[in-house]
Parts: sequence; structure tokens; C-alpha cells
Amino acid sequence: MNQDRNVVLFIASSLDGYIATKEESLEWLFKVEGEGDNGISEFLDTIDTVLMGKTTYDWIMEHEGGNSWPYSDKNCYVFTRSSIADTEQVKFISPNIPDFVNELKKQEGKNIWMVGGGVLLHSFIKENLVDELIITVAPTIIGNGIPLFREGNYQLDLSLKGTRNFNQFVELHYEVKR
Ligand SMILES: NC(=O)c1ccc[n+]([C@@H]2O[C@H](COP(=O)([O-])OP(=O)(O)OC[C@H]3O[C@@H](n4cnc5c(N)ncnc54)[C@H](OP(=O)(O)O)[C@@H]3O)[C@@H](O)[C@H]2O)c1
Repeated sequence: MNQDRNVVLFIASSLDGYIATKEESLEWLFKVEGEGDNGISEFLDTIDTVLMGKTTYDWIMEHEGGNSWPYSDKNCYVFTRSSIADTEQVKFISPNIPDFVNELKKQEGKNIWMVGGGVLLHSFIKENLVDELIITVAPTIIGNGIPLFREGNYQLDLSLKGTRNFNQFVELHYEVKR
């Protein structure tokens, strides 16, 4: 197994731990004054595979997709229990998640981006399948919304790899202790 190929959560969160409002708005996030692209293109250079939940996929298609899928140079998998025909850009899958991740990690490649959202991430966290977490914290408290981490019987011990700030954003980079 290629131990160097990590599953990395790269996500933005409010200070109180939400990734979107209940209505799936990210306005609170987009209005924050960051710096450059807040490290996104640098991160994209480190990955070649993209994993996301169907709700996040729908959000991207509605707000950012248009005619051009933003991750067309990556292997993209969208998790859904519905049967949906693959597109040129995206495969729709409902695998046994630990088996799927182990299979990916056996293949040569760059890191694997766990995009979210919170529902899909929960399946990964429960099975301890995330190796690194890069969380960009917005200086915003939104009170309620879609939680980054859902309630459950789990504990992950992390080691802090670094912090950076992009103007008003703080990026927290953790590695999961094995
Ligand atoms: N702040 C950020 O950086 C950030 C990042 C990512 C997402 N978001 C936001 O988060 C919101 C979506 O998050 P969310 O937590 O509601 O949903 P999500 O995790 O993106 O998607 C949930 C859906 O994914 C599928 N799914 C989840 N677990 C699965 C599994 N184990 N096997 C097969 N399919 C599975 C199911 O689709 P089906 O119902 O089709 O079966 C489920 O309804 C969006 O508003 C998005 O914009 C924000």
C-alpha cells in the first residue's frame, strides 16, 4: 500500500463549526476578506482524486459548475445511494467505504481530497479513514447550520502540523494520530 497517499479533509468552517447554513448558504463565508485564493490552488496541486457527497455535488453544480466542472483534471467520485449515470467528469458511487478507500490507497497517486459535506465526512470519521484535516476557519459565528462534525461515538486524536492565516481566515492543519 502506498502509505504516502493520504485522505485529506480540506474544508472551510465557521468558528462555531458549521460548513453552511441550514439553507445551504455560504454567503457568510464568501464575504470574509481572505488573501489570494486562501491556499486553494496550492492544495489542489497536492491531490488527484476528489470525494464528495451528493448534496455538495448538487451545490457545486448549481453555484459553480455551469458548463465547466471545476475539477475536470481530477478523478471525481460522488457518493449517493441513488443510481445515477456517470458523466465524463464524475462517477456516482455507493461503495463499502473502507474497502473503497483502501483500494484507492493501493493505487499510485497524489493525495485524496475529502471535500465533505458533513454527512459523508461522518462515514469517513467513524471508520477513521481521514489522515489529515485542513480546516479554514472563518471569523464568523452562525449559530446553527450544517455541522462539520456530527455527533457520534468516536474520538480522533490529532497532532497539529501547522497554522497559517490568510488575512481574516485561520488555517488549521492536523494529522490524525495512528
Ligand atoms: N464550507 C465548506 O467548505 C463546504 C464543503 C463541502 C460542502 N459544504 C456544504 O455542505 C452542504 C452539504 O453537506 P451535507 O452534509 O448536507 O451533505 P453531503 O455530505 O455533501 O451529501 C450527503 C449525501 O451524500 C450521499 N451520501 C452520504 N454518505 C453516503 C454513504 N456513506 N454512501 C453513499 N452515499 C452517501 C447521500 O446522497 P443521496 O441522498 O443521493 O443518497 C447523502 O444524502 C452543502 O451546502 C455544501 O455547500 C461546504
